[in-house]
Amino acid sequence: MENKMEHIARYKAAMGNYPTGVTVVTAFNQDGKPMGLTVNSFASVSLEPLLILWSIDKRVYSYNDFLKVDKFTVNILSADQGDLCTLFSSKVEDRFSQCDWKESSLNLPVLTNSLAALQCKVFKQIEAGDHTILIGEVLDIQNEDKEPLLYHRRNIGAIPKEFYN
Ligand SMILES: Cc1cc2nc3c(=O)[nH]c(=O)nc-3n(C[C@H](O)[C@H](O)[C@H](O)COP(=O)(O)O)c2cc1C
Repeated sequence: MENKMEHIARYKAAMGNYPTGVTVVTAFNQDGKPMGLTVNSFASVSLEPLLILWSIDKRVYSYNDFLKVDKFTVNILSADQGDLCTLFSSKVEDRFSQCDWKESSLNLPVLTNSLAALQCKVFKQIEAGDHTILIGEVLDIQNEDKEPLLYHRRNIGAIPKEFYN
């Protein structure tokens, strides 16, 4: 029987085998400052109503601020936005001075040139172990005809050309 550390390592390896897209979730904190982090726990949940989810690690610097917001944007990254994946998972403090973004008519920060941006209001928060799951109801959808950024085994990149017929 493996010990707990080995069990966790096996879990991480198995989850690392599962490829995902990459998003950056953004919002304004209580002081009106933009905040955001790279997120690959994003998933579609429901059509009626339109719901999505993502989960935030309790150790993330902006964790308490994210629990206080009533809305957020899920910016789905395109293949040419690998630098944003790195920026928003780095220890850079003022991430928003190093990227292009705008405040939307719903008063949310939205990154420029993403593959898609889903502006959401918070539907539910569910505490789950060392993370909290945030479920959002989608209020506004911007969608571009672009290629997605992928994440697999700690690598980021584009879908290989051979993938499509
Ligand atoms: C590809 C990728 C996916 C990530 N997904 C998540 C996630 O779903 N939830 C989360 O809390 N952190 C996730 N992270 C880690 C956060 O982006 C990172 O811990 C955070 O930005 C650290 O900075 P901070 O604590 O200064 O905000 C991910 C990082 C990468 C590179």
